[in-house]
Amino acid sequence: MKKGILVVSFGTSHLDTMKKTIDVIEDEIRNLFPDSSVYRAFTSQMIIRKLKRTENLTVDTVAEALNRMAEDGIEDVIVQPTHIINGIENDRMMEDLMEHMSLFRRIRVGKPLLSSVDDYKKSIHAVMAQTELQPDEMLVLMGHGTDHHANSAYPTLEYTFHALGYNQVLVGTVESFPELKNVMAKLEISEKKKVALMPFMLVAGDHAKNDMAGDEDSWKSELEEAGYEVRVIMKGLGEFEGIRRIFAEHIEEAAD
Ligand code: CO
Repeated sequence: MKKGILVVSFGTSHLDTMKKTIDVIEDEIRNLFPDSSVYRAFTSQMIIRKLKRTENLTVDTVAEALNRMAEDGIEDVIVQPTHIINGIENDRMMEDLMEHMSLFRRIRVGKPLLSSVDDYKKSIHAVMAQTELQPDEMLVLMGHGTDHHANSAYPTLEYTFHALGYNQVLVGTVESFPELKNVMAKLEISEKKKVALMPFMLVAGDHAKNDMAGDEDSWKSELEEAGYEVRVIMKGLGEFEGIRRIFAEHIEEAAD
C-alpha cells in the first residue's frame, strides 16, 4: 500500500514564521517517515486566500489535499494536525476527513499537541529547555483561546507549569480565558517587575506580532504602561525541537 502523511495546520500568511515552524515540522516528518509521502493542508480559508493573493502561493484545504493524495495513488493515510488543542479547527478537520474516508483503504488520525497529561508535561519541558529566564523575570505565554470547551487546556497548562516547578510562568489567551487582566493580577502577586512575552501558538504570526508585541493596544504596551520591563521572545512553538518531537510521536501513536 502506498503511504501518505497529511500535515494539517491552521496556517499563517507570514512567510518568515512559516519557514521556521510549519516548513521545519513537515521536513522533519519527511525525514522520520521516509516511506510515506508528506502533504500539506491548511484549515484557514482566509489564510489560503491571502497567501494566494499576496505571495502567489497555493496551499490545499484538507479536502483538496485528500483528493490530491487519492489521485497520487495513496491508499494508507495518517493525518497529523499541528493544532495546539482539540478545539474547533480540529473538529472541522475531523468532519472533512469523515467525508473523504472512502477514498482510502485506511485512514488514521494523530492527536493535537495538548491531548494527554503527558503531552502537557512534555510540551512544558520542551519550551523550558530552550527558554532562559532571569531570576527576577516572569514568562507570560499568550495562547490563542477559544469559545470551544477545549479552552480549558489553557488554565490546565498554567497549572501544570506550576506543578512541574516552573512558578515563573503564566498563561493567558488573546481570545478567551484567562485574559491579560487575569495574568496581570498574578504578575502583581509575583512582585517581579520584568516580563518575557512569548506566544504559545505554533507560529509567531499575526497575533504574536500585533496583539502580543505591537506598539499599541498590545499585551506589551499594556504591561509597559503598568510599569513592567518587557522583552519579547518572537518564537512559535514549531521552533522548539521538543514540540516537533511530540507531533512526530503522535504520528507514531496513530500508526500503532
Ligand atoms: Co486568531
